[in-house]
Amino acid sequence: MNDLVVVSNTDGVLEVRFNRPEKKNALTRDMYETVSSAFERADADPAIRVVLLTGTGDTFTSGNDVKDFQGTNSRPRGGSRFLPAISSLQKPLIAAVNGAAIGVGTTMLMHCDLIVAARSARFVMPFTSLGLVPEAASSLLVPRLLGHQRASAMLLLGEPLDAATALEWGLVNRVVDDAALMDTAREMAQRLAALPPQAVRLTKRLIKHGVSDVAGRIQEEIGLFTERLASPEAQEAFAAFMEKRKPDFSRFS
Ligand code: COA
Repeated sequence: MNDLVVVSNTDGVLEVRFNRPEKKNALTRDMYETVSSAFERADADPAIRVVLLTGTGDTFTSGNDVKDFQGTNSRPRGGSRFLPAISSLQKPLIAAVNGAAIGVGTTMLMHCDLIVAARSARFVMPFTSLGLVPEAASSLLVPRLLGHQRASAMLLLGEPLDAATALEWGLVNRVVDDAALMDTAREMAQRLAALPPQAVRLTKRLIKHGVSDVAGRIQEEIGLFTERLASPEAQEAFAAFMEKRKPDFSRFS
């Protein structure tokens, strides 16, 4: 097991924690692999009733490791296994958002069933400013959840959302003091774990029935996202982030 992701099983709740606080829990290929395997394990093991996702430190996750996006290497991206895995998980998935959720940090929440946010949480999808397009079917699920204008503010402009606004807009179920986050999320997980598991799984499936072709949208976005990764716009954005400078898009038409 990779300790950049900590996986623990307590009383039927599989807790999966991004654990790379010195890099704000930026997700590497290995981390995506570990989390994807944990999801598969959860669905295969009848003793696991609920999965709980969180992060170590002051950030839920700062999104994909930008270093992995640099250059033109053609290795498959971590997201190509992780996104289908999170969107097709049969067991209920709770997120305890312990701070900033950036890029895939926010888009993965579209596949969580219940979300508790710490008061310090904020949600940002800065894809356009990175020269990229949305992923995780967020181009489908964010407008469905928030409406076209709010989705455009977040996905086109990259406007951040604070925890209170996320609650008001229906992106999260509860906002609690940072210190109460894990107790609240674990209590919610225990309530779910005590329910009849088949009824829970079937209900999750029925709730998700209303949205058609999430899997197709994920693949369509992956195709465009992969093309964008190699674009000079995106490479300028990644270089600027790593070099801690402002990107300069003035030469692009
Ligand atoms: N990929 C790679 N490294 C990352 C990262 C990411 N997504 N997010 C943070 N880091 C690294 C920083 O480069 C820095 O490394 P260093 O200590 O070697 O210089 C370290 O993590 C701490 O980050 P820093 O930016 O100094 O902390 P901060 O508190 O000022 O800001 C964030 C934290 C999360 C707000 C900021 O790092 C950020 O905006 N990251 C998001 C990157 C992004 O665009 N993600 C979306 C990808 S699709």
